[in-house]
Order: sequence, then C-alpha cells, then structure tokens
Amino acid sequence: MKSIIRLFGVFTIVSCIIACQQETILPQQSTAPILPETPYDYINVVEEAPNFILPSNLVLASNSPGVENVVVNIPDCNNCDIPPQFNINMITSDDIATLGRVLFYDKALSKNNSISCASCHKQELAFADDQKLSQGFGGKSTTRNSMTIANPILNTTFFWDGRSNHLRDLVLRPILDHVEMGIDDLHELSEKVIAQDYYKELFTRAYGSDEVNTNKIADAMAQFTASIFKGDSKFDKGLENNFQDFSELERHGLALFFSSKTQCASCHSGANFSAPTGFNNPYQETAGTANIGLNTIYDDNGFGEGKFKIPSLRNIAQTGPYMHDGRFETLREVLDHYNNGINPHDQLDAKFLANGSPIKMGLTDLDLEAMEAFLNTLSSATITTDERFSNPFKS
Ligand code: HEC
Ligand code: HEC
Repeated sequence: MKSIIRLFGVFTIVSCIIACQQETILPQQSTAPILPETPYDYINVVEEAPNFILPSNLVLASNSPGVENVVVNIPDCNNCDIPPQFNINMITSDDIATLGRVLFYDKALSKNNSISCASCHKQELAFADDQKLSQGFGGKSTTRNSMTIANPILNTTFFWDGRSNHLRDLVLRPILDHVEMGIDDLHELSEKVIAQDYYKELFTRAYGSDEVNTNKIADAMAQFTASIFKGDSKFDKGLENNFQDFSELERHGLALFFSSKTQCASCHSGANFSAPTGFNNPYQETAGTANIGLNTIYDDNGFGEGKFKIPSLRNIAQTGPYMHDGRFETLREVLDHYNNGINPHDQLDAKFLANGSPIKMGLTDLDLEAMEAFLNTLSSATITTDERFSNPFKS
C-alpha cells in the first residue's frame, strides 16, 4: 500500500513537472464553504478594540539609562488617525463580510483554481506570508514581499510603494494581476464566481439578489478585509493598566522605541504603528513613505528614490521576512540595520542623518534584546485563531 502511495506521489510530481509548466487548470473546489447558521459578528469588530479609537496620552517614567520619559500618544479620531475615506463604519453588513470571507479564500477566483488571497495572506501568519517572495498562480514569484493586511482601516496608503489609497479600489487588483491570480478581465471574474453554485445564496443574503457583479465582489472583499482588525495585544492591555504586566526588558524596549535616540515612533506612529496619517502631516506628499538606507542604489525604487511605505508594526513577530524585498529573516536583523547598517543615499530620511552621514544609534545588545521584546508585545492574542477570519473551505 505504502509503495503504491509512494508511486502515486512520484507520478504526481512527474506529471506536475510536465503539466504544471503548462499552467494546468486544476479542478475547481468541489466542496461548498462551511458557514455558521447566523453570520459571525463583523460589524462590531472595531468596538472590540477601544484603544484604537479612544484618545489617550500616557506619560511613562523611564528608568532606562540615557532614555527620556516616554509619551505614548494614541491620537483621537477627531484628529483624525482614521483616514476619512475609511470611516469605521465601512462594514455595513455581516452577510456582506461573510461573502467577502468566502471570496477571500476561494481558489476559483484565480486563473487555474490554485490560488486565493489567503495563499499569500495567511491567517496563521497574521495575514502575511513566510516567503521572501510569494508564488502566484503559475508558480511565478511576486516582485515584493507579501505584507500583512491586518488592520487596514487604519491605513491611508496601500502596497509597498503606497500606490493605492482605498481598500475598495485595491481588492480586485491581485485577482487581475498576472503574477498573483491571473484572471484576464472583470467579466471573466464574474463568470468564475457565477460558476460556483454556493454564491447564489451568499449574494442573495448579502445583497438581496443573486445577481453577481464586480462592484459587489469588490465591496464584499473590502468589507471582509476591513473587518480584520484586532487591538488585543499585550501592548493594548498595557495602555489600560499602565504597562504593569510588562517585564523590565519590555519596558526598556518600549522606552527606547518611543525615544529620540531611536526615533522609531516618529515614523511607525499612531494606533497602527505605521505611516503618520491625518491632515497636515509632513508625510502626505510622500504618501507615508520613507527611504531608510537599505541600499546605496535601489533596483526597485518603490514610491521613488528608494522610498517605501512605512508599514504597520502590529503583529510584526508573525510577519517576517521583513522589508519590501523580504531581505531580513529576523527582527534582530532589522534592528541591526537601524542600529548600525544604514547606508548613505541622497534621499535617506533626514531622521537618520547626523552631519550629513548615516547615524549609528549605538544600541547595546541588551537594548536590542529589549526592543525585540517590545516588538513582540505588538502581536494580537487572537488574530491567528479568530474563526471569523478563518478558511471556510475545509479541504
Ligand atoms: C501571489 C501572492 C498574493 C496574492 C494571491 C494576493 N496578494 Fe495581496 N499582496 C501581495 C504582495 C506581494 C503585496 C505587496 C505588493 C506591492 O507592494 O507591490 C500585497 C499587498 C496587498 C495589500 C496591501 C496591504 C497594505 O497594507 O499596504 C492588500 C490589502 C492585499 N494585498 C489584499 C489582497 C487581496 C484582497 C487578495 C485577493 C484578491 C490578495 N491580496 C492576493 C501578494 C499577494
Ligand atoms: C524614517 C522613518 C522610519 C524610522 C525612523 C523607522 N522606520 Fe522602520 N520602516 C520604515 C520604512 C519605510 C520601512 C519599509 C522599508 C522597505 O521595505 O524598504 C520600515 C520597515 C520596518 C520593519 C519591517 C516591517 C515589515 O513588515 O517588513 C520593522 C520591523 C521596522 N521598520 C522597525 C523599526 C524600528 C524598531 C525603528 C527604530 C529603531 C524604525 N523602524 C525606525 C520607516 C522607518
């Protein structure tokens, strides 16, 4: 029996070598998604994370040598950390978000039924990928590292070069992208969706009619993606209880992160530890991007001149490898870069310059260990297990 299986395995591999190169169309998923009788609650996800929207301005006395007292400033919404185009009411119906969840996980949305959004945005990895570059539908690689898509309603810009600024406009792009999912046009997309029986009922529940169109597809996927929102990390708890559960090491890391010595929080700022957002911020014209001296010469210039989106650091422990090209495997390598690996460049962010040269932060081993411990406190306790965001197709 075993050898039959083995033989079959070899046969599959061999036939794949022959056939996969021709981008075989795989059979469509035969099973319908398994969904709860009453839809999960998506509308209230934001309320589960009050610290995201409540104003707070904590001053922590730092006992770390050489580090000033720390002000942790979570801006309030009037001011408005949540960008106007993504008001927190973006999720209008649990049934629509449920439809979006199915679409997000459905491999039938790719050219050869092999790839879904979740192939590169994996729940167990906080909706990022553990590959340097991800594989799209024909085994072709993406040109950049797949980023986490968690907490998108706190983002003003999307993609590593900040080229999109609306979730609704963005969600169809990967489907049509020839590396990612490879569908030829929006008509083909609708046809593929119509071909799956289970969508009739899902569209009817969501929109009151089983008519499929790409506006609805984009809306549903945007609503589901917007619902991936979590504020239950150790850091969030700390905001409520003055970080009393933090170890000495984590407190030291926190102090360093918000200090002028490292300036991390001046770029990774606000509730999402990402690009400074809102009105009148100096980053508006650079779309929340910066050049952090990864290279002296860039092959991929990002937004231009080596500037890339200032990404969120929430769930950062789960989302490696890091940077737009996935060059760093570990957080320690990232920290080593900032500490003493910043390269000179015309467009290097001014924060990293002292007398015209890249700064050396002079962090000790203990400092680096502390910052890594602090970064680990930014992981949501439940994002990787929350059923609402899980794969409804049991394979
Ligand atoms: C083959 C891998 C792959 C697939 C499939 C894929 N993505 Fe992505 N996704 C990426 C990569 C790589 C990036 C970064 C691209 C860039 O910056 O140029 C990205 C970026 C994003 C972003 C931007 C996040 C941010 O904060 O800037 C969102 C949102 C997103 N994808 C949603 C989706 C959705 C929805 C689907 C399914 C329709 C999908 N992706 C399918 C690889 C993939
Ligand atoms: C001048 C703005 C700026 C400052 C200051 C800054 N960063 Fe960043 N950070 C960025 C940008 C931009 C990227 C993405 C760069 C790229 O991929 O080319 C990034 C990427 C990262 C990443 C990888 C994220 C991912 O998803 O791959 C981590 C981790 C990180 N920064 C941590 C820090 C820490 C810790 C500090 C302080 C020592 C810091 N940053 C200071 C702008 C900044």
